[in-house]
Amino acid sequence: MGLLLPILLGFLAALIGGLYLLGVFRQRRAGEPPLDKGLLPWLGHVLEFRRNTLKFLQRMRQKHGDVFTIQLGGFYITFLQDPQSFGSVVKESRDKLDFTKFAVHLVRRVFGYTSIEGEHNILQMFSNKHLKGDGLELMTQSMMNNLQTLMLHNIGSAVEERTWMDDGLFNYSYNIVFRAGYLSLYGNEPHNSEGSEKKAKEKDRAVSEALFSEFRKYDQLFPNLAYGVLMPGQRLEAQRIMEYFWNSLSVQTMKTKDNISRWLWDIQQAKEERGEKESAISKYMFVLLWASQGNTGPSAFWLLLFLMKNPEAMAAVKEEVDKVLKEFEQEVQPGGPLINLTREMLMKTPVLDSAVEETLRLTAAPLLTRAVLQDMTLKMADGREYFIREGDRIAVFPYIAVHIDPEIHPDPHSFKYDRFLNPNGSKKTDFYKAGKKVKYYNMPWGAGVSMCPGRFFATNELKQFAFLLLVYFEFELKNPDEKIPEIDFRRWGFGAMQPDRDVQFRYRLRY
Ligand code: HEM
Ligand SMILES: *[C@@H]1O[C@H](CO)[C@@H](O)[C@H](O)[C@H]1NC(C)=O
Ligand SMILES: *[C@@H]1O[C@H](CO)[C@@H](O)[C@H](O)[C@H]1NC(C)=O
Ligand SMILES: *[C@@H]1O[C@H](CO)[C@@H](O)[C@H](O)[C@H]1NC(C)=O
Ligand SMILES: *[C@@H]1O[C@H](CO)[C@@H](O)[C@H](O)[C@H]1NC(C)=O
Repeated sequence: MGLLLPILLGFLAALIGGLYLLGVFRQRRAGEPPLDKGLLPWLGHVLEFRRNTLKFLQRMRQKHGDVFTIQLGGFYITFLQDPQSFGSVVKESRDKLDFTKFAVHLVRRVFGYTSIEGEHNILQMFSNKHLKGDGLELMTQSMMNNLQTLMLHNIGSAVEERTWMDDGLFNYSYNIVFRAGYLSLYGNEPHNSEGSEKKAKEKDRAVSEALFSEFRKYDQLFPNLAYGVLMPGQRLEAQRIMEYFWNSLSVQTMKTKDNISRWLWDIQQAKEERGEKESAISKYMFVLLWASQGNTGPSAFWLLLFLMKNPEAMAAVKEEVDKVLKEFEQEVQPGGPLINLTREMLMKTPVLDSAVEETLRLTAAPLLTRAVLQDMTLKMADGREYFIREGDRIAVFPYIAVHIDPEIHPDPHSFKYDRFLNPNGSKKTDFYKAGKKVKYYNMPWGAGVSMCPGRFFATNELKQFAFLLLVYFEFELKNPDEKIPEIDFRRWGFGAMQPDRDVQFRYRLRY
């Protein structure tokens, strides 16, 4: 008896401690948002969340309103769904809400890369320098060069001319945009290494094709990888693909290339100067490949599909594209030189801009997450205030709160190519909810400190791809009555969405 009591007490303490860690005792305190822990201790709602994030969050919103806290795999996450109040998350100071903590954790788990101090500053500095403004001029030129290498290399070879080619639209768009983007950022095979320019370009095509094929395998594992629920076999496969990329994108390999983007070059240099190991930098190159190539290809697919399904939109964009070519005194003609689509020309396409923005509204659905570093008050636009605990997280899912809100965007599930155009043809930025102007009316790139630094380049890529396809090719759906595929629901929250199936189309050179 004398011995049993301490053992029992010890066991009880451990049990209570365990239950405490599992979050069983957490109660909503006065002033906090509604708390929904779900049925499973610690896991909370994670299964339903993972199965279909959109559906789950819509259900929670119906139940609790526009602010609520849920338990997900050991974390308490407060979802803010009122767009008028996004400013208080997006602009909150970094000592209260932190983005990097969460990102660093994810990057280690998913990409095997351990971040260094000051990394985010390096990324921001060189993104500002090379991925916008004047820096974009060079990027646009490389992208043009590479798109032509991939799309137009058959021009002039009599065999291929004017024969219809069949492909999946998703496969084709993702393939071309990924490979051109990769070559523009990571560089070309030098002409002299292969003996001739023609051979060097062939090698660029072959290498980028192989990379794309591996990238797609990783892409398909990605949602489960991010949630940490891969099967053992899949985990091995993911590891194998990662090592393939660490190798293919290694600092050493890159140093043999021509035309490496200044963006990657400067990032590499800065990291070397800080004494980071070459193997670590190579891993980081894969992180950036992922960030830069995982979203644009799928978005290109949706853009083309929406245009093909909306003849009026297609006609408007085609008309604009032809007009710009003419204005810059260029012409596509059989046997003539390839067109030189410059950044200046791409700044004169408001209709295409609006079509791209509308595409992203319908198909980009990122989940923005911040770690709460100290107890804080969340101030809502209508005056409500909520206490948020240190150690929790705050998240915003703009797709529900903004993109498909019928008040902000009437008839939200339809593609309206001119939704972001004013009647006088300028870019429309005035959107309203309950009579008040909405500042965050479309958020495909996220917002605040972690806002996508590649957004200007990405928009350019999409426009260049569509532009070239429109002026050089005829293309059409194999089945004109094809329904627009559903969004693959496993990917909600991961940036650009993918369709749950491909759509067949055919294309051929116009001339
Ligand atoms: C349609 C295409 C794209 C979409 C929809 C997109 C979307 C996003 C979003 C939503 C984020 C923020 C994630 C967060 O807050 O947690 C992000 C981050 C990022 N994106 Fe993009 N992106 C696209 C293309 C690109 C391109 C082309 C590049 C590079 C050339 C790029 C580079 C990055 C990088 C480096 C980050 C991390 C930023 C940071 O850690 O602060 N993205 N992207
Ligand atoms: C995907 O596209 C590439 C290049 O366009 C093509 O060679 C390949 O056969 C396509 N694959 C599928 C599964 O359609
Ligand atoms: C480098 O880029 C320029 C301009 O974009 C292009 O003319 C040149 O052929 C490229 N070099 C290689 C090796 O592809
Ligand atoms: C395309 O135009 C840009 C800007 O005018 C120029 O710098 C570049 O050399 C041109 N490229 C080609 C291949 O003519
Ligand atoms: C075009 O119209 C919008 C509002 O409809 C207005 O804000 C803008 O100033 C106009 N721009 C020009 C160039 O007239």
